[in-house]
Amino acid sequence: MSDFQTVCRVQDLAEGESKTIVLGTKLIALFRGADGYYAIDDVCPHMGASLSGGCVEAGIVTCPWHAWRFRLADGAWADNPRIKICCYPVRVLRDEIQVQAAGAASGPSEVPS
Ligand code: FES
Repeated sequence: MSDFQTVCRVQDLAEGESKTIVLGTKLIALFRGADGYYAIDDVCPHMGASLSGGCVEAGIVTCPWHAWRFRLADGAWADNPRIKICCYPVRVLRDEIQVQAAGAASGPSEVPS
């Protein structure tokens, strides 16, 4: 199991915002909701859109391309919860947002927008 890695600072992600983080070989969508932080795979399993660009409502992100919907809490496809994308533990340590992504070998970076 890998350790938590700092991906950004609390002040870098306002409530309601999201961003794509590169952690090792993984693209991860990081969200800040009213009740905390969530991290799920950023690449939509349908055709590869970035889920961090999706609209979030009631804890569910809607893919910006074809509207597949995924629960932030566990990565389940909201319309067929037997199918899931990965979700990752997130914690805040002082002012650092940290994500634990097993198999992410190197440090984080942010995808340029
Ligand atoms: S790429 Fe996400 S629903 Fe099509």
